[in-house]
Amino acid sequence: MTIDSSRRGFLKTSATLLTANTIALEAEPIPQQTPPPSDRMRFGIVGIGMQGTNLLSDAISLPGAECVAAADLYDGRHTHAREITNNPSLPVTRRYRDLLDRKDIDCIVAAVPDHWHKRVVVDACNAGKDIYCEKPMSHTAAEGFDMAAAAEKNKRIVQIGSQRVSGVVFGKARELYSSGAIGDVEMVELTLGRNDPTGAWEYPPPLDLSPHNLDWDTWLNDAPKIPFSPERFARWRCWKEYGTGVGGDLMVHLLTGFLFTLGWNEPPRSASALGGIVRWKDGRNMPDLHTVLFDYHGVPVYVRLSLGAETPEASRFMGPKGIIEVSGSQLRFSPQRGIETRPSYYSSSFPRKMRDEYVAQWHASHDAELAHEAVLNDTVYRGNGEDDGVLHMRNFFQSVKSRKPLVEDAVFGNHAAIACHMANESYFRRGPVTWDAASRSIKSS
Ligand SMILES: NC(=O)c1ccc[n+]([C@@H]2O[C@H](COP(=O)([O-])OP(=O)(O)OC[C@H]3O[C@@H](n4cnc5c(N)ncnc54)[C@H](O)[C@@H]3O)[C@@H](O)[C@H]2O)c1
Repeated sequence: MTIDSSRRGFLKTSATLLTANTIALEAEPIPQQTPPPSDRMRFGIVGIGMQGTNLLSDAISLPGAECVAAADLYDGRHTHAREITNNPSLPVTRRYRDLLDRKDIDCIVAAVPDHWHKRVVVDACNAGKDIYCEKPMSHTAAEGFDMAAAAEKNKRIVQIGSQRVSGVVFGKARELYSSGAIGDVEMVELTLGRNDPTGAWEYPPPLDLSPHNLDWDTWLNDAPKIPFSPERFARWRCWKEYGTGVGGDLMVHLLTGFLFTLGWNEPPRSASALGGIVRWKDGRNMPDLHTVLFDYHGVPVYVRLSLGAETPEASRFMGPKGIIEVSGSQLRFSPQRGIETRPSYYSSSFPRKMRDEYVAQWHASHDAELAHEAVLNDTVYRGNGEDDGVLHMRNFFQSVKSRKPLVEDAVFGNHAAIACHMANESYFRRGPVTWDAASRSIKSS
């Protein structure tokens, strides 16, 4: 028997073994019959912009869910909410507090820009309303604690909107990891890249937007007062005064999926970021390239986000027994033995007689054991296209009814958001930062 013990030969042989089984993942079907009136869910929506459009459409697709009022500072979105709900007389207002005062509203769904999350969540909780609030939970680390405290004090259900945690693919990733499929995770990589103006948030402002149909002063909230700016209204993610950059826009989804998969619920110990405004020099102050190395109780978590080079969204969990990789609606589990399956390619440096002797010894001591080892194949799990957003909304509505806790509650949402704030602070301070649990603040290290 001839043995190709070179590294090239080893890789070639390994590659031929990598045939994958494919398994379809099915979400538990959502019952389609209309529930009795006592089980209906009457909700109000706050913010019917890009994401509010998705949330409202998802919510009303659920049997028994009814949107009974909509609030937005821009009147064009009142028309839009009536169009989505197909209800020309849907009550609409610029003041979201009007919704909080209504006794017939069970809960609130909010998709306002990041600099409004805290006020809307705290006001909703204090008014006795449960709330689904978009990610990232907070605009600053301190805000997240005020929001979690308001939820706890008022015993409210708060769900944050990183919808992947309700999807079948991350559900499978979590199940595989907890069953020990890859052993204890040693390292995690999270990556995503975009490469077009819309991906870089250069959204077109609504064509008729003006101070007459938008309450601009209120939209600014606590941000510095500046004259009406359609660009800031539509592209608020580009500025730290309103948004949280690629950290809060994209990284938070990856971090939420990572924490959920591993069953962790904590902020990182430290973050060290590098980045810059490399491609989109349009006046923004948030980086369009952001790489971060987090320390999660000793496990390195590397994140790479770019708005200048398109790459798939991927979460890679590496352990001694294999790799779990989630990318889009697909999960690949690649088991690894972590043992020698052929004579070491280092022996190619031995003179022939010594090499032959080593190879013979190797087979004598390994072949019997290896004969019992099964061939390792990858398994690919494919999501069935079920919308994570609908499942996440369904989970929220169920929790509002049952009062049972959610995975992505205010504590979990706060931990994921803190990591994003640390990534941003490290970028702006140009050095590593650490999380100080005692003072609940980010320190320069
Ligand atoms: N989960 C996801 O996949 C996902 C996707 C996109 C956006 N988001 C999140 O959703 C949130 C909204 O993002 P967007 O892209 O829809 O923004 P957007 O600018 O398109 O829409 C926000 C809307 O909120 C309104 N608004 C602002 N302050 C308000 C207030 N005090 N009262 C009532 N209305 C108010 C604005 O007028 C606007 O119409 C952000 O936090 C964002 O991070 C989540």
